[in-house]
This record gives sequence, structure tokens and C-alpha cells, in this order.
Amino acid sequence: MTKIKPYSTSEESKKSQVTTMFNNIAGNYDRMNKLITFGMDIKWRKNVCRLIDQQNPKNILDIATGTGDMLLLYSKTSVHKIVGADISEGMLAVANEKIKKRNLQNKISLELCDAEHLNFKDDSFDAVSVTYGIRNFEDLEKGLSEILRVLNDNGICVILETSVPEKFPFKQGYHFYTKRIMPIWGKLFSKDKKAYSYLSDSALDFPYGRALQIILERVGFQNVEIIPQAQGISTIYVAQKG
Ligand SMILES: C[S@@+](CC[C@H](N)C(=O)[O-])C[C@H]1O[C@@H](n2cnc3c(N)ncnc32)[C@H](O)[C@@H]1O
Repeated sequence: MTKIKPYSTSEESKKSQVTTMFNNIAGNYDRMNKLITFGMDIKWRKNVCRLIDQQNPKNILDIATGTGDMLLLYSKTSVHKIVGADISEGMLAVANEKIKKRNLQNKISLELCDAEHLNFKDDSFDAVSVTYGIRNFEDLEKGLSEILRVLNDNGICVILETSVPEKFPFKQGYHFYTKRIMPIWGKLFSKDKKAYSYLSDSALDFPYGRALQIILERVGFQNVEIIPQAQGISTIYVAQKG
């Protein structure tokens, strides 16, 4: 589990630093995201939405929802109730604007809360998703256990997270891009210069593939499926509560 923090010289906890960082970058997070992934994240998010929709859930919780793009995708499915939870007020404010603009307040609600201490009762959701959120958790296993707790029996959790391609030349290209280019994008286009170094360093350090599958199973998930996206730049994990 990555111990890398956004502001390495600060003594503050990772959780507090992550919250500050996302509050700082909330205003241009969407633009930077599209720039960094060349818009490929749109397809990967749609894949997450499709996997969840196949289960016909009545309700969905999107943890670390950020600026709410997954919530908007879920609103196009037949799900009745969608909840987005995040620790950053700044990110939720952007999500809230999008929801209001589309008049989706009846279907989508937002909660300011920590993934490691969710404000929801046991067995309350048919599906939970986390896209590019888990590597920011201070205690990954605690966050995953909370997902398991709030999921209904047979409910599914779908995670989309960065991973590292293993084949030549994608592996080399990915390392070059993540170590050299991403921090430059951050320095040029973001007000928080350190944020994009943290995001790239933590992407290289975070467990992926089989290593994350082992963690999911240790926490109690079953039938974990690993679905690499674009040569393994990102990976989708589908895990079930037995
Ligand atoms: C990289 S952004 C991803 C946002 C969105 N899910 C997406 O796919 O664009 C990571 C998000 O995780 C949130 N986050 C980090 N740690 C969290 C925690 N412990 N509990 C809830 N949200 C958290 C951050 O505030 C941020 O909005």
C-alpha cells in the first residue's frame, strides 16, 4: 500500500494532505484529467458503468466520487438512487454544480465523508464503485472493508485504478510518460505544482493486478476479476460480496 503523500515535507497525515490537495486542484481537475489520459478515461469509465448496469442495481454508491462524472453516467441507466461520497468539499462542489445543471437532484445525492468511515448502514447498496480513488486512501484495507460492509449480499464492487503495463514497449513508454511528462503538465497547468508529481509517483507505487486481487480477497471479497484497460495503463477490478 502506498505511503507516498502529496506534500512530502509536511508532517500532516496522508488523509489530510490528500484532502487539501484535491480541494486545491478541484477547479481544473476535469481539464487536467482529460489532458493526462488523452480522454481515454471516458471509455474506461463507461466500461465501469456497463459492468455495474449489467447487475441491474437499485442503488449505487460511488466512493471518492470527485467531480461526479461516474454519477452522471449512472444517471443514464435505470438505477433509482445514486450516492456520491468524497472527502473533499472542493471536488463535491464541482460535482454538485454538474448535478444541478442537469436537474438530477432527485436521483443523485452527495455525502461529504471519509471512505474509511462511511456514513451508511451495513448492507445498504447493490453496487459500489471507486474510480481512481483507492490509491489515495490512507488505510486501503480499512476502505475496502467499509465497501464490503455497506454492500448487500451478492452486491458488486467495481474499482478502476491506475496500473503499470508489463509488456515492451508500453512499460517503458508508461514509465517515461508518468515520471517525465505528467509532472510537467502539472507544473504548466495546475496551481498545485506538487499534486501531479504525487499522482504520478503514487500511480507507479500502488499495487495492481494480482497484488490488488490478493488484498481484495484478504478483506473478504470473492470472485475477483481483473480487466486491464489499454495495455494495462489502468485496470478494472470486479469483486463480489459473497
Ligand atoms: C483522482 S480523484 C478521482 C475522482 C473521481 N472518482 C474520478 O474518477 O475522476 C480521487 C478522489 O478521491 C477522493 N478521496 C481521497 N481519499 C478519500 C477518502 N479517504 N475518502 C473519500 N474520498 C477520498 C479525493 O478527494 C478525490 O476526489
